[in-house]
Amino acid sequence: MADKVYRASTTAPVNIAVVKYWGKRDSKLNLPTNSSLSVTLSQADLRTLTTASCSASYPASQGDSLLLNGEPSDIAGARTQACFRELRTRREALEAADPSLPQLSTMPLRLVSENNFPTAAGLASSAAGFAALVRAIANLYELPASPSELSLIARQGSGSACRSLFGGYVAWRMGDAADGSDSMADQVAEASHWPDMRALILVVSAAKKGVSSTSGMQQTVATSGLFQERIAKVVPQNMAAMEKAIAERDFASFAEVTMRDSNSFHATCADTYPPIFYMNDVSRAAIRAVEQINAAAGRTVAAYTFDAGPNAVIYYLEKDTEAVVGTLYHVLGGEVGGWKSTVVQGLKPSISLDEGVAGILKAGVSRVILTGVGEGPLKSEEYLVAQDGSPAKR
Ligand code: PMV
Repeated sequence: MADKVYRASTTAPVNIAVVKYWGKRDSKLNLPTNSSLSVTLSQADLRTLTTASCSASYPASQGDSLLLNGEPSDIAGARTQACFRELRTRREALEAADPSLPQLSTMPLRLVSENNFPTAAGLASSAAGFAALVRAIANLYELPASPSELSLIARQGSGSACRSLFGGYVAWRMGDAADGSDSMADQVAEASHWPDMRALILVVSAAKKGVSSTSGMQQTVATSGLFQERIAKVVPQNMAAMEKAIAERDFASFAEVTMRDSNSFHATCADTYPPIFYMNDVSRAAIRAVEQINAAAGRTVAAYTFDAGPNAVIYYLEKDTEAVVGTLYHVLGGEVGGWKSTVVQGLKPSISLDEGVAGILKAGVSRVILTGVGEGPLKSEEYLVAQDGSPAKR
């Protein structure tokens, strides 16, 4: 059986933070300066599928490898190596305790991964990617680790990835141990607790990010005075208010904290010296559109948030689809793709946006993604590595 190929497949979701992670207190271990909280998005629309495989027949000279969307991907980086090392160490412990187990920890790993969405800036592909990589190898190695334990490992790949080990509403507790052993994710609420949460993503640019999140965070930590206020006061308040809003399914509070926290994060970017700008004129027009929709509705029906890029993520509840999606579909429907007929069919344009705002959105939004809150990683029977170890032809 020396040529046996061992395989495991999983999918993992994207998450979009409503209280943002921004700042590392330890860049080697990816330990954050503040806790954060996110909504896991549905894998029907955004997910990474990863097959992890290993075999004694894989040439040791080639080492571990990762094929991402059909292209060989660089795994030499310290982040990916840390994930491989942590997972192998845990497998070694199982093998040491039970010598009858196959020695998977000694075999080269061959990973094949695919996203069902373009690997583009601001779509949190690294979060889904590292969560899928860690979950797939943990399944391959049959590790008895809980999602929180695996979140400790995924965190070392990409900070935000630790939150993609769970579905629903997820917190990453910053912890205070120097070795990072208490900096992990937990589930604040299942997706089914508040299942009608929806997200409309306005894709503004599919170009790679200007300033990477790692470098941006380091510059902010080193130079922004406002940042100190954010981590000491603003975020702890936002975390408490957000957990309460989710527990009570209070959308108006959820929305206000989401928008304020995004504004606070981007303010610390502007306060970085030299300043960092992730939002552009189109992003700001999306903010104005959300404000006009809320004003016309007479209550808060939509909340915007922006990561390290110009794309807008707009959270809303299913019952307010007409006010939120109907309004934007009326403006953008003819220009851009990504609308789902099941969602937009029959929607009336009840709210009209200011012409200036509508014009900027029309010129600047390249596509939309309609999705909602969803589940955590799922085992899959779809294999991207064939039984003989070759990458599956697609
Ligand atoms: O995990 P990273 O290094 O890609 O950083 C993510 C940072 C933000 O997306 C801006 C915020 C967050 O909490 O996801």
